[in-house]
Formats: sequence, structure tokens, C-alpha cells
Amino acid sequence: MLRLFIIVCLVCSVAPDCVPGDVGFGDSCYSFNRVHGKFKDANDLCVKMFGGSLVKITNIIDNNWMQKLAVNHLDADYNSFWIGASDAAHYTNWTWIDGSPMRFSNWGPGQPLEDRHCGTMLISTGKWFSQVCDERIQFLCQYPNGAYSPTCPPCLEI
Ligand SMILES: *[C@@H]1O[C@H](CO)[C@@H](O)[C@H](O)[C@H]1NC(C)=O
Repeated sequence: MLRLFIIVCLVCSVAPDCVPGDVGFGDSCYSFNRVHGKFKDANDLCVKMFGGSLVKITNIIDNNWMQKLAVNHLDADYNSFWIGASDAAHYTNWTWIDGSPMRFSNWGPGQPLEDRHCGTMLISTGKWFSQVCDERIQFLCQYPNGAYSPTCPPCLEI
């Protein structure tokens, strides 16, 4: 009886607080979207659906983890996805969508271009390329782990 009580509670408490199908990593959940949208529309969708944003990438470990996952979760026929990087607010000063400065970057050779103001990651290499913000591209949303609360059955005391 006691064992059953413990198991029922455990199953619920270890369940990740991400929307089913999304992937938890560190403090965040990641949602890959094969839908193609403009940069702003893509971010709006991340806000509306998850209370999140396009991804913010702060180190090479996270960068490479996202790239590996993108290989499996995104359509490789289109070799890129939006990340939450832009210099649309102040040209040549690339920042994250939350307004924070870009301390880590992983631009490909010759990037970013001066006439392209939104950032993408190449699925094949993990390198970043600037793109025209009105292009329609797949994207990756990020939201805080725990923001989504699945309804757990209450712990049963039998
Ligand atoms: C670039 O943007 C960041 C974040 O908003 C800001 O902290 C920084 O001062 C800006 N740099 C320049 C050179 O404008």
C-alpha cells in the first residue's frame, strides 16, 4: 500500500513541465515549429502559445544541443530556423529578443550581413546567418520550464 502511494506521487512530480512533445533542457522548454513564418510572426506565436519567445542562445553547448535536436525535429529540406536574434532596433547592434545584449555569438563566415536584420541557425552546421526578417522560416520557441502545468492526478492515499 505504501509503495503504491509513493509511486503515484513520484510519477507526477518527475513529469517535466513542458508541453507534451516539447523538449526540456536546463531551465527551459523548447518547441520546434515546422510552420514557416516571418520573424515577428514567429516570435508572436511563441509568446501567444507558450508565454515564451524565439530562442536565446548564450553558449556553444546550448547552441550545439539545439542544432542536434533541430536535425530530428525540423524539416531538413529547409536548412534553417529563426533564433531570437535581431539588429532591427539598432542596426549592427545585435541583441536578443528580450533586449539583452549578445555576449555569445556563433555567426558563419562573413555574417551577419548589414542589410539583413534577423538571425537564423543553419540546421546542418549550427552556425548563424542573418536573414531578411520577412522571409518565412521554421522556428524554435523557448519558454520557462514549469510554465506549463499538466494536471496531475492527486497522490492517492489508499
Ligand atoms: C547594444 O544593445 C545593448 C542591449 O540593448 C546595449 O546594452 C548596448 O549598449 C548597445 N550597444 C551599442 C553600441 O549601442
